[in-house]
Amino acid sequence: MFVRFLALLSVFVALSLSLSASPKQSSEAFYQRNVFYAGGEYTFVPSSNSTILINQIYVEQLTPLYRKTRKYPVIFFHGGGVSGTQWLNKPDGNRGWASYMLSKGYEVYIVDQWSVGGFSIPYNPGVLPHVSASSVLAIYFSLRRSSKTNLDAAPLILGGGVELATVAFTAPELYDYYYQARYHTQWPGNGTRGDPVFDSFFATFLPLSLGPLAQNISRKSTCALLHQIGPSIFVSHSYGGQGAFLATDGCPELVKAHVAFEADQTPFGNYDAGTFGATTPAPSRAWGIADVPIAYDPPVTDPNQLARVAIGQNQFIEGKISNFSCVLQADTATQKPRRLVNIAKAPVLFLTTQASVHVLYDHCQVSYLRQSGVSVTFTLLEKIGILGNGHFGMLEKNSDDIARYFEGWIRKNVQ
Ligand SMILES: *[C@@H]1O[C@H](CO)[C@@H](O)[C@H](O)[C@H]1NC(C)=O
Ligand SMILES: *[C@@H]1O[C@H](CO)[C@@H](O)[C@H](O)[C@H]1NC(C)=O
Ligand SMILES: *[C@@H]1O[C@H](CO)[C@@H](O)[C@H](O)[C@H]1NC(C)=O
Ligand SMILES: *[C@@H]1O[C@H](CO)[C@@H](O)[C@H](O)[C@H]1NC(C)=O
Repeated sequence: MFVRFLALLSVFVALSLSLSASPKQSSEAFYQRNVFYAGGEYTFVPSSNSTILINQIYVEQLTPLYRKTRKYPVIFFHGGGVSGTQWLNKPDGNRGWASYMLSKGYEVYIVDQWSVGGFSIPYNPGVLPHVSASSVLAIYFSLRRSSKTNLDAAPLILGGGVELATVAFTAPELYDYYYQARYHTQWPGNGTRGDPVFDSFFATFLPLSLGPLAQNISRKSTCALLHQIGPSIFVSHSYGGQGAFLATDGCPELVKAHVAFEADQTPFGNYDAGTFGATTPAPSRAWGIADVPIAYDPPVTDPNQLARVAIGQNQFIEGKISNFSCVLQADTATQKPRRLVNIAKAPVLFLTTQASVHVLYDHCQVSYLRQSGVSVTFTLLEKIGILGNGHFGMLEKNSDDIARYFEGWIRKNVQ
C-alpha cells in the first residue's frame, strides 16, 4: 500500500520522502480480506453509446482469521479528505482500529465514501482503491471532457492541504487558534511537514465531493451494503458521521448502534472556519444534520419548517475561543422539536477529544440529536482520563485506549 503511494507521489510531485517514513513491519491483526462493491445502478451514456454501472460503494471485508466471536460486524466510515485506509495501520506503522476490532472478534467492513478512493467517482472508471489525489483528478477531468455526466453537481474539492492538516489535525498546539489546542500531545512525531509520520499521514489525503448529490448516493449505497451484509454497528469519524447518520435514516432496521468519533459538524452550520478565528458558523445542513431530506416526525417537507433558535454564547479563555454557541430546534410550550424518527432507532456513543477543535462545538450536535429523540451517550475523552488527543485520535499514540472504551460500550449496548 504505502509503497504504491510512494511510487505515485514520486511521479506526481517533486517530493523526496525519507525512507524512514516506511511503516514498521505490519502489526495488523490476522484477517482474511474480501473486496467487493455494493449497490450501484446501470446507466446508459449516450455520448459513449454504452452502459456503465455508477454509484457502487467500494467495500473491504476483513474477517478475523482465528475467531469471529461477535454477532454483528463493524462498518467504519472515514472522514472527509481521506479514505478507508485510515482504519488500517496508522501512519507510524502501528496497528489501527480495524486491527483492534478484529482482535476483539468483530468482522470489519471498511467503505470508501462516495467520490473517494475506491468508491467510484460518478462514472466509475474502474479506479484502483485508494489511488492518489492526482490520478483521481486526472480521471475526473478526462470524464468531464468526455461524457455528459452530472459531475457539476458533485465537484471534487481539496480534502485539505498541508496547512490545514497541520493547524487542525497534527499540530494545533503550535498555532493556538483555540484554547484547547495547547493540550494536544498524542500525535506521533512533531506533526509538521518533513516529519516521516506527518508525511505518511498526508500522503493519504484525497479530494472529495460533499454536496447533496454525494449525500443522497452515500445513503443509498450504504443501505445497499447493509441489505447485503445484515445488521451492523457503525464507527464513524468526522464527515463520515454524516454518512453514518444518513444511512441510519435510510435503513434504521439494519443499524444496531453508532460510535460517532468527532463526528460531522454542527446543526445548520459549519464551524470549520472557527479553527482559524471565525466565530459564526457558515450556513449549511438545512435539514439539521444534512443538506438532503431526512425523516422527521411531524414530517418535514421543507427544511424551513424546522424552527431554529440560537442557544448559548461563544466563550473565551485568555482571549482564545473555547466554546461555541449552537443553533438548535426551537423548544417552547407551543413548539416542540421534531423527532428524527429513523435516526432515533440506533443508540449513539458520541466521542470528543480533549484538544481537537471539535471540543468547542460537538456539544451542539449532541444537543440537537437528543432534542430530536436520539439516545446519545456523550463522552469527552478527558473526562475518562484519555488525554491529549486531536481530531485524528484513531491515528495517535494512545488510539487503543479510545478503542477499548468504545468497544466496551458496544458490548454493553448491542445485544
Ligand atoms: C451503439 O451501439 C450499438 C451496439 O450496442 C450499435 O448497434 C449502434 O449502431 C451504436 N450506435 C452508434 C450511433 O454508434
Ligand atoms: C519536524 O521534523 C522535521 C524532520 O525532522 C523537520 O524538518 C521540521 O523542521 C520539524 N518541525 C518542527 C516544528 O520542529
Ligand atoms: C436528493 O434526494 C432528494 C429526495 O430524497 C431529492 O429531493 C433531491 O433532489 C436529491 N438531491 C440531489 C442533488 O440529487
Ligand atoms: C460549552 O458550552 C456548553 C453549554 O452551552 C456546555 O454544555 C459545554 O460543556 C461547554 N464545553 C466546553 C468545552 O466548555
